[in-house]
Amino acid sequence: MRTQVVIIGSGPSGLLLGQLLANSGIDNVILERVDRDYVLGRVRAGVLEQGMVDLLDEAGVGARMHAEGLPHEGISLAFDNRLHRIDLTALTGKRVMVYGQTEVTHDLMDKREASGLTTIYEAKNVQPHDFDTTSPYVTYEKDGVTHRIDCDFIAGCDGFHGVSRKSAPQDVIKTYERAYPFGWLGILAEVPPADHELIYANHPRGFALCSMRSEHRSRYYVQCPLNDKIEDWSDHRFWDELRRRLPKEAAEKVITGPSFEKSIAPLRSFVAEPMQFGRLSLVGDAAHIVPPTGAKGLNLAASDVRYLYSGLREYYLDKSSAGMEAYSAKALARVWKAVRFSWWMTTMLHRFPDTDAFGQRIQEAELDYLVHSQVAAASLAENYVGLPY
Ligand code: FAD
Ligand code: PHB
Repeated sequence: MRTQVVIIGSGPSGLLLGQLLANSGIDNVILERVDRDYVLGRVRAGVLEQGMVDLLDEAGVGARMHAEGLPHEGISLAFDNRLHRIDLTALTGKRVMVYGQTEVTHDLMDKREASGLTTIYEAKNVQPHDFDTTSPYVTYEKDGVTHRIDCDFIAGCDGFHGVSRKSAPQDVIKTYERAYPFGWLGILAEVPPADHELIYANHPRGFALCSMRSEHRSRYYVQCPLNDKIEDWSDHRFWDELRRRLPKEAAEKVITGPSFEKSIAPLRSFVAEPMQFGRLSLVGDAAHIVPPTGAKGLNLAASDVRYLYSGLREYYLDKSSAGMEAYSAKALARVWKAVRFSWWMTTMLHRFPDTDAFGQRIQEAELDYLVHSQVAAASLAENYVGLPY
């Protein structure tokens, strides 16, 4: 088989890139290790920046998002038993869209199918080859048979545990990492959210987040020790802990119900440099991970897609390699700013096991400064709604 771009991974990065390329007449094939339902079963991000909303529109998959998504104009920070609203729209003129990653993925998969584009699910042992030449290819196994796809470019959209980053020459790739000494326990429940906007809470018992997927479905998180197990957390214990970490006025509005999803995610920051090795480009989680506190992971995947898509368009439509040559540097400049913001939000809002009294006072001063200084609040807002692409 031959195509122009082989995309490894059918998460949001791979699907969005594939759709944008196809709309521009650039042929692509997606290879995915697991099946469609498995991909759709993963509950992850929930907040989209305006830039990602625009890109989904450009890809032609924005209709359901606009009909069912919830545009938000602010968030609240909670500490000292009080809610402090940050008016994102007054401070930046922009909004964010609450619409789950699962729904984005669903819309992209439906569009891909309707467009007749090829996705090979359950492709095993995917391997990129010869990407240091102008004729790379990818091999994979399906039903016990080995296949080969020749191409011009390979897009590594295969997440943190994928094969693409591992295939990069080890003497060229450099990685930067920070692991945090806690995780997030998250639940989904079919109950109305506690507030119409998100609440990020710093509390002596640990961080908590009130988020949502719709007016009827809530997504809540609490900071937990890394070695906690799901079995340790009955629904009753979760709701109890969540309410204890919220100011009284918010805690009273939490409506409880049975959870239908519960998971624990470790928090980490990770960046691989460069994001391109000849004709193999890394996109999204394959190249970087951020802790979810700033709601940036999925949005960073979208900005990478935007840069790579522009580079590929220039290559095929304008016959220029300039955009492809600039991909890694352009993407990394934006990545590091989101890594910084996510690290800062995480540091400001969580309780770290080894924080001393001085560190604690600094955290309190930072929060107080943030909600009483318009300049400080504007900086948070500018990053939260998303820096320009
Ligand atoms: P992925 O979504 O990881 O997709 C990669 C795809 O590649 C997968 O479908 C995978 O099966 C496939 N793949 C992997 N290896 C191979 C292979 N060898 N061959 C073929 N295919 C392969 N972000 C937020 O902003 N907020 C959140 O609350 C949030 N929560 C998260 C919770 C968890 C548990 C995780 C893991 C991430 C979370 N994120 C969150 C981050 C966000 O979900 C990611 O940034 C986003 O999914 C990145 O999309 P992606 O397409 O780059 O990677
Ligand atoms: C979510 O709804 O899952 C969510 C929202 C905001 C975050 C992280 C996760 O910062």
